[in-house]
Amino acid sequence: MIIAVDGPAASGKGTLAAGLAAHYGLAHLDTGLLYRAVGLAVRGHLDAPDFEVRAIEAARALDAAHLTNLRELTGAEAGMLASRVAVIGEVRAAMRQYQRDFAHRPGGAVLDGRDIGTVVCPDADVKLFIAADSKARMERRARQLEARGEVVDRYALYHQIEERDARDMANPHGGFYQAADAVLLDTTQLGIEAALQAAVAIVDKVM
Ligand code: C5P
Repeated sequence: MIIAVDGPAASGKGTLAAGLAAHYGLAHLDTGLLYRAVGLAVRGHLDAPDFEVRAIEAARALDAAHLTNLRELTGAEAGMLASRVAVIGEVRAAMRQYQRDFAHRPGGAVLDGRDIGTVVCPDADVKLFIAADSKARMERRARQLEARGEVVDRYALYHQIEERDARDMANPHGGFYQAADAVLLDTTQLGIEAALQAAVAIVDKVM
């Protein structure tokens, strides 16, 4: 069984994907981490003329199965850097096979990202597209960051999320849209438990 979970920044798709994986006993891959790792690898070269070449090299060299420094990977800077390298077609291509192999492992998997249902696994058994309004997403991300001791500027965070969404949606190589056969789940008004229950109900209905 392959479950694809796509959605914008801080929509809660990662938490939902992890919850679904635990519920059905499936492996879970947060594909955003791959782009974040490539972004961090070329941090400091954003304005260099060879930025793209470096990013492609970093994507090809990425040891996706052994990502460390999770704290840094999940921070705001890595998210912005990720969305800069994610617009490079060859960066996406370099990581596509790893994601597909992960999805097709025996026993099945849940993958979350932007293009899982459209590009990485168009054959997924169940596709969820997670939505939530930008303010709700900002507030959730702010609380996550505060819970780990970071000081949050909500105004700046809101604009960062909007900027990242805009870049992701305009990404010509991105595949970031709701697949025709994906089910839309709006979590604006839902807490984590309620969102997970709604997601499980959708998966159970499709299976
Ligand atoms: O999901 P997350 O916020 O961790 O993703 C970070 C960035 O990586 C996104 O803003 C997007 O630019 C990129 N990404 C992508 N395709 C994916 C996952 C993430 O382009 N499947």
